Amino acid sequence: MQDDLYIGIDLGTSSVKLLLLNGAGQILKKVSREYPISFPKEGWAEQDPDEWVDKTLDALPELLQEADPAKVKGIGCGGQMHGLVILDEDDRVIRPVILWNDGRTAEETDYLNKTIGRDKVSGWTGNIAFAGFTAPKLLWLKKHEPENFMRIRKAMLPKDYLVYRLSGAFATDYSDASGTLYLDVKNKCWSKEMLQILDLKEEYLPSLHESYEAVGTLKPEIAARFSLSPDVVLAAGAGDNAAAAVGTGVTGPGACNISVGTSGTIFITGSHFVMDPNNALHAFAHADGSYHLMGVTMSAASCNKWWNEEILNTFDFTAEQEKIGELGENRVYFLPYLMGERSPHNDADARAAFVGMSMATTRGEMTQAVLEGVAFAFRDSLEIAKAEGIVPAASRICGGGAKSAVWRRILANVLDLPLEAVENEEGPGLGGAILSMVACGAYDNVDTAAKAIVRVRETETPDPELVAKYNARYQYFKKLYPALKAIRENRE
Ligand code: XUL
Repeated sequence: MQDDLYIGIDLGTSSVKLLLLNGAGQILKKVSREYPISFPKEGWAEQDPDEWVDKTLDALPELLQEADPAKVKGIGCGGQMHGLVILDEDDRVIRPVILWNDGRTAEETDYLNKTIGRDKVSGWTGNIAFAGFTAPKLLWLKKHEPENFMRIRKAMLPKDYLVYRLSGAFATDYSDASGTLYLDVKNKCWSKEMLQILDLKEEYLPSLHESYEAVGTLKPEIAARFSLSPDVVLAAGAGDNAAAAVGTGVTGPGACNISVGTSGTIFITGSHFVMDPNNALHAFAHADGSYHLMGVTMSAASCNKWWNEEILNTFDFTAEQEKIGELGENRVYFLPYLMGERSPHNDADARAAFVGMSMATTRGEMTQAVLEGVAFAFRDSLEIAKAEGIVPAASRICGGGAKSAVWRRILANVLDLPLEAVENEEGPGLGGAILSMVACGAYDNVDTAAKAIVRVRETETPDPELVAKYNARYQYFKKLYPALKAIRENRE
């Protein structure tokens, strides 16, 4: 039905964004609410999960202001991945959530990859340990806060907590659960071996679903508070990257999405489970029922935000980008490792750097270097996929950073990929709403729904001359991380 309504929720790291979609696939309204991240120690990142729920509920009346709430049929959520939400026997949150970009678990990551062994861990789960994943967080908790660990009765991911509070359903989906490192991704079940290592009972974990399955309906008191029907269906939802891929139409095999959000991800779909032999890319389940490979750069749009807001003391990102001169000529390099790096270095202790300035260096060149450094970090992941013979012909692009035309141009030329921006760049929110349409039976499957709803707005085509210039610069960029790592290790 064209006038049925669906709510998509993007539970992000710095804000929650809600959108209202009608049955014809048109976005009627978007609203958002910000919340803080706390960095209690260097490399740590935490959030209060009740803030996610409060801010979502606070935004709902504004979202529904001009709509008939009785027409809302479904809600679907795409959420920041890997965060550990733990509840006690009274269903109370035990401690703040340790987020996906928290790097405190270097020791636990090493324990899993070295003592237990990469081969075993990736054999059980499809992936090796990375500092941001959920399993190392549980090991950290067991060692450093054993009293909190003992109180765990439910352990879940961020968007699952929101769904739990909205519906009472204790459920998760395969795409998000892939990032826990205790899901056997290929076989879509919890890994008994990993649960044993973590000392975690399966009964403390949510039920597993495809992202487009209905897992529950709104709690009657929440429905009544917003004049919504208590029959509103909650889809299982997805990790934000899988949801973003759905929201940019990246479903079915051989497609690619680049998300330039707080983190940067390159997401390549496949028809079956594939694992890169060195596990530099994540092998995760997709929200369309299939699988994908993903490279993650920890700091993407957040590098630009940090550079503008913290260093230049400006909020006018566009004005700063107008100072950028001709592309391809910059002598300044930026390594974007403000929160360590995931793919391909797997190094939570890596740090950012500017290299190559002279007295002639301008502010515009340094801004440009920041955008280029992030693009080179994406390229590091793309090179791994290419080495496996996985060569996407083009990619969709989304996320806050993708709103910048100059950054899209830099990315298209550094990656030598045509980049297609879609009409609505609301990746995870739109993906969540599409998943809820499938959960409500409006479409038979995610691929058909996404293809019917998502439209390309414009394509940034690489220019061969600029590609060649960036190629040469990339050869230099890729030597910087190992060189700086060697200096760091000698110092340590
Ligand atoms: C993916 C990852 C990030 C978060 C950001 O593995 O850690 O992209 O999902 O929200």
